[in-house]
Amino acid sequence: MKLIFHGHSCWEVVGEKHRLLIDPFLTGNPVADVTPSSFDQLDAILISHGHSDHLGDAEPIAKLTGATIVANYEIASYYAERGCKSHGMSIGGGRDFEFGRVKLVIAHHGSTGPNGEALGSPAGIVVHLDGKRIYHAGDTGVFLDMQLIAELNGPFDACMLPIGDNFTMGIDDAVRACELIRAKLFLPMHYNTFPVIKADGEEFLQKVKAKGLRAREIKVGGTLEL
Ligand code: NI
Ligand code: MN
Repeated sequence: MKLIFHGHSCWEVVGEKHRLLIDPFLTGNPVADVTPSSFDQLDAILISHGHSDHLGDAEPIAKLTGATIVANYEIASYYAERGCKSHGMSIGGGRDFEFGRVKLVIAHHGSTGPNGEALGSPAGIVVHLDGKRIYHAGDTGVFLDMQLIAELNGPFDACMLPIGDNFTMGIDDAVRACELIRAKLFLPMHYNTFPVIKADGEEFLQKVKAKGLRAREIKVGGTLEL
């Protein structure tokens, strides 16, 4: 499996036969390396919550590729009304899709839509694909139940965690999250997109390493082979 980072919280998950996109914030993202029209074949677009830096370009990409939008029920309904294929779930629920398994887990954050719509509860996203297990924590603060999420859905081959502070955990809380989750590899996200979430990726890597765990900073446009 390959993970490609498109900036902010947007990750492309490339399996042997399937391709997924998580939190496709490209238009208006000052660091994004691709545009909505860069995608042709996609199975699903997974969305963690309703904020526009996560919904992003889900609608045009879904329409261009025919991908199914998978998210909480409220976000799925929002996109169904806009003529997209979508599938709604809720926190704690998992489903075996043709491409692999997706489960929504808790995240402590908000989830209002671009025009103040009530778009359900924010989520973290667990994906099982081609025998690999990944956990995209969405936007969240640290919480003790991350340990239970790892116990029930891991061990994770990779875990993407926000480190930008202000709207989510900052570096020190994210390091604590790493100790709870104990994934094989941690990937920082949701930092350095805008000045308000400026963070030092190298500091995160060093602090994770000091705990005996592994982290890697993937540059925007970079690919990681899992
Ligand atoms: Ni958010
Ligand atoms: Mn965000």
